[in-house]
Amino acid sequence: MTSLALSGITKSYGRKVVLGDVSHTFEPGLTLLTGPSGAGKSTLLRLIATAEKPTRGSLSWNGERLPAARTRLRRVLGYAPQAVDLPEDLTAREFAMHIAALKGLALAAADNQFGALTDAIGLHADINNRIASFSGGMRRRLIFAQALLGAPEVLALDEPTAELDGETARKLGALIVERAKTAIVVVTTHLADELAQNAVATLRVSDGKLA
Ligand SMILES: Nc1ncnc2c1ncn2[C@@H]1O[C@H](COP(=O)(O)OP(=O)(O)O)[C@@H](O)[C@H]1O
Ligand SMILES: [Mg+2]
Repeated sequence: MTSLALSGITKSYGRKVVLGDVSHTFEPGLTLLTGPSGAGKSTLLRLIATAEKPTRGSLSWNGERLPAARTRLRRVLGYAPQAVDLPEDLTAREFAMHIAALKGLALAAADNQFGALTDAIGLHADINNRIASFSGGMRRRLIFAQALLGAPEVLALDEPTAELDGETARKLGALIVERAKTAIVVVTTHLADELAQNAVATLRVSDGKLA
């Protein structure tokens, strides 16, 4: 079974300790990260996504520590950041194919997959339009869809349903639950929402701890 382990992770920005000596092992299934705004949920996901390094402590992918295992982890990772600047001049589809190329995916298959994913989340009619014309909710869905391209073994999704109406949020939720049957899926949400009934664990980030 795949595993992603955090051991003794501390993350500080200057003198501010955001995460203090956090340890947890993620296994396939859905893990929800809850906690108040500013608690460190996004910071924890950036660490999992290898977008940042811990100040102290280590991550291990299938028992092998990073940084040695970092490239192997990145190859199987899908990451949807909470906030990201999208390339406004590209169409959604061009952006997705750019991501697919970075992930090393076969482009024809990735294009088909992007079509199916965007169909499932109500974005398909817009994939050939420039991102500049996209609303907040459309951007959120595009960021979600790119994360799912390929067959990531680890999915780190930061507030994937923020700004979405209930029906669209449920469509994303169904895909999240489906992926969590085989992948390690870590989702932050400031709400303890209906995904909770499908989660193997709900962890609360608060005061630098994970409980
Ligand atoms: N790059 C950074 N530099 C300095 N402080 C940061 C940085 N990123 C996050 N923080 C601080 O870390 C804390 C946790 O932020 P974040 O992980 O975004 O919380 P959450 O996602 O739970 O709302 C906040 O106090 C935030 O201001
Ligand atoms: Mg956040």
